Amino acid sequence: MALTRAQAVAHLAVALDTSERDEVVRLARVLAGRAGTFKVGLEAFTAHGPDLVREVRDLGAPVFLDLKLHDIPNTVERAARNAARLGAAMFTVHASGGEAMLRAAVAGAADAERPPAVLAVTVLTSLDDAALEGLGIPGGAAGRVRVWAEMARRAGCAGVVCSPQEAAALRAALGAGFLLVTPGIRPAGAASADQRRVATPRAAVEAGADVLVVGRPITGAADPAAAAEAILAELCAP
Ligand code: C5P
Repeated sequence: MALTRAQAVAHLAVALDTSERDEVVRLARVLAGRAGTFKVGLEAFTAHGPDLVREVRDLGAPVFLDLKLHDIPNTVERAARNAARLGAAMFTVHASGGEAMLRAAVAGAADAERPPAVLAVTVLTSLDDAALEGLGIPGGAAGRVRVWAEMARRAGCAGVVCSPQEAAALRAALGAGFLLVTPGIRPAGAASADQRRVATPRAAVEAGADVLVVGRPITGAADPAAAAEAILAELCAP
């Protein structure tokens, strides 16, 4: 399933995971035109806050604000409203916060000029079945992801964050139009590091992922632009 370059770029979200403000901005400039979205997550946000989100937003690509909110519904609703007003195009909450919390996030996000897509993080891609057992959650990641994704859709979320390994089953179960955002992307030969449920960029797209979140394979490369281009080439190859 070869993508056009424009489709490939639209599929790529680069996680700008660094504590250095200059490095976030440098990466965003170098990767402009090569990524459809820039993800600002906990590391950069806890260092530089909302100002950094506005700065990245103004560099030309929509911002995916990945703060993985998880709190009581009232608190999440208010934080979601703030995230929406910051101009994020997408932001995350933990599905494990429950359906009422997800509904509250959607309600808070709707209270902005351009409501962002609320994504529910299902099971972190760093957790495997054994780690879930250790948390007292039996049955494996795939089943849990499915239950939480169905709950997220009922609650009005635009989509979920899942691993590429669950994407095909979710696409079949939930149909088109529900966003599947997949971290745990590793080009062939790249180090998994702390990620456990991984796949290559091509496999993720073939499984039905709409957005591939890629961090260290690009940001940790000697030449981030070249690393992004290699992923785009993989997605466009016949
Ligand atoms: O460096 P790497 O490609 O592993 O980065 C993945 C990014 O996706 C990180 O920013 C991480 O916070 C985020 N993420 C994840 N697993 C989830 C949700 C978000 O790895 N379930």
